Amino acid sequence: VVIIILGVVLGVSLRPNTDELKQTFTDRCKAFKEYDCEKIWDVFVQAFVGKDPCNVPMEAYNPLIDAAPFKPACNRMMFWSKTKNVVHDFTDKRDCYVTLEDTLLGSVMDGLNWCGKEGSQEIFTTGCPGWTDCEKNPVRSFWNRASAAFADVACGDVSAMLNGSIATPFSPSSIFATIELVRFNSTRVKSLNVVLVTQKTEVTDCTNPSLKDLQKELDQGIKYKCTEVSESRIEACGADPQIPCGGCW
Ligand code: APR
Repeated sequence: VVIIILGVVLGVSLRPNTDELKQTFTDRCKAFKEYDCEKIWDVFVQAFVGKDPCNVPMEAYNPLIDAAPFKPACNRMMFWSKTKNVVHDFTDKRDCYVTLEDTLLGSVMDGLNWCGKEGSQEIFTTGCPGWTDCEKNPVRSFWNRASAAFADVACGDVSAMLNGSIATPFSPSSIFATIELVRFNSTRVKSLNVVLVTQKTEVTDCTNPSLKDLQKELDQGIKYKCTEVSESRIEACGADPQIPCGGCW
């Protein structure tokens, strides 16, 4: 007891992991002024704390999605796969498109790691199961659930930035393929424009067989388009606000 009181007096935290994660969460959350970040944190924690870190289903985050719902941004929604850096370098600089990581929940959780433990109220940020160690880990389930909710509100002309420097730009096991694309609904989504990012040493183009699979998976009634765009063109567009969004590619 004496040690605990001394610790509290000296400002030494008993839960350094929890404090650090909460601090990052609230700092990032505060950039989105219209939300109650304390409340969203509490709802977030409920999803995984005290649970086996390999048994947190994506549904555990339903209350979190309800607490901070995604707003549709028709004609501006950007999905991606294997293009994390190029897509965010672009969306960070220009207001042309919105990715999941530009929304409140996506930006707050981006790059973070967290998990709980059965029989404990503690939050851990290290020693958590990795992405593929077990499927129902708290981080992967969060991204699955958030991606599903983001895709559910997709509307109008939707874009997807895929990687033209790999053999299979539309990877069947990706979140984009398994969670997002299958949720695009032709009553809301008019078209899907694949932006295939190419580099000097081009590996694939819009004739890539995996893109045929993509079209098969796509709800009939959603128009499909594919545009090959060099990475340098995307970078140039990010750097020059004079170029209108519609003129980038
Ligand atoms: N190990 C660790 N992290 C992984 C792994 C893995 N094996 N696979 C995916 N991830 C995490 C990483 O954080 C990675 O940057 O998911 C991110 C995206 O993975 P990709 O394979 O590049 O793409 P995809 O699975 O299609 O997910 C991206 O989902 O997040 C949403 O809206 C977003 O459209 C986007 C899509």
